Amino acid sequence: MPNSQKKSVNKIPMPDNNETPRHLRMTEPSDWFATYLPLVPEKGTVLDVAAGSGRHAKMFAEAGHPVTAIDRNTEALQPLNGSHDVEIVEADLENGSPWPLPGRTFDAVVVSNYLFRPLFGDLIRTLAPGGVLLYETFALGNEVYSRPRNPDHLLKSGELLTLVQGRLQVVAYRHGIVEGGECPGVKQMICAVNNLDMSDRDDGEPEPRPLP
Ligand SMILES: C[S@@+](CC[C@H](N)C(=O)[O-])C[C@H]1O[C@@H](n2cnc3c(N)ncnc32)[C@H](O)[C@@H]1O
Repeated sequence: MPNSQKKSVNKIPMPDNNETPRHLRMTEPSDWFATYLPLVPEKGTVLDVAAGSGRHAKMFAEAGHPVTAIDRNTEALQPLNGSHDVEIVEADLENGSPWPLPGRTFDAVVVSNYLFRPLFGDLIRTLAPGGVLLYETFALGNEVYSRPRNPDHLLKSGELLTLVQGRLQVVAYRHGIVEGGECPGVKQMICAVNNLDMSDRDDGEPEPRPLP
């Protein structure tokens, strides 16, 4: 193995002997979400799927967005109750029950470090016109370094692009090794807008969004 690759392999593994699960110890929001937050319409509603500790629910609420945070375990979200405009929904998203928020739409749907492919359709249907999908999670290759290692929880190359192809306007996409920070690993991330059929242009192209 070339030296340059060895260096990356050595930097990523996170020894994880703490009894509190890693996702509940993370307090800083993802850089990706923080960067693209300005694309979410002002005071627009946000759905945080598999919200964990609520680090993103808190960030969006503090930016003036009413947030709905879903998780099957909502204990860690309770501190947001009352102090922020956060609706907490306890639901198991993988047990075959219908989507827990039927008929509701949001100006942003955000998903971080969570993958359950059968939900993809619901996530896109839940976006209001002009709404923003922010998705960031682990990808294949991460298994070399740390959890998650199950391919069911790891995106394939270009998978988020395929998910939104023909349905949303891709504003930004990245895939690769993230070193450092609270959550290093092989990651894929996308920011895409639900405005493909909102064009006023003769050629039908969606309106471009300002890049942060
Ligand atoms: C790795 S954590 C990510 C938490 C948060 N999105 C973040 O990035 O900080 C994964 C989250 O998915 C939730 N989760 C796992 N399986 C779930 C299920 N079947 N239904 C709902 N939530 C689930 C867990 O409770 C956990 O909070």
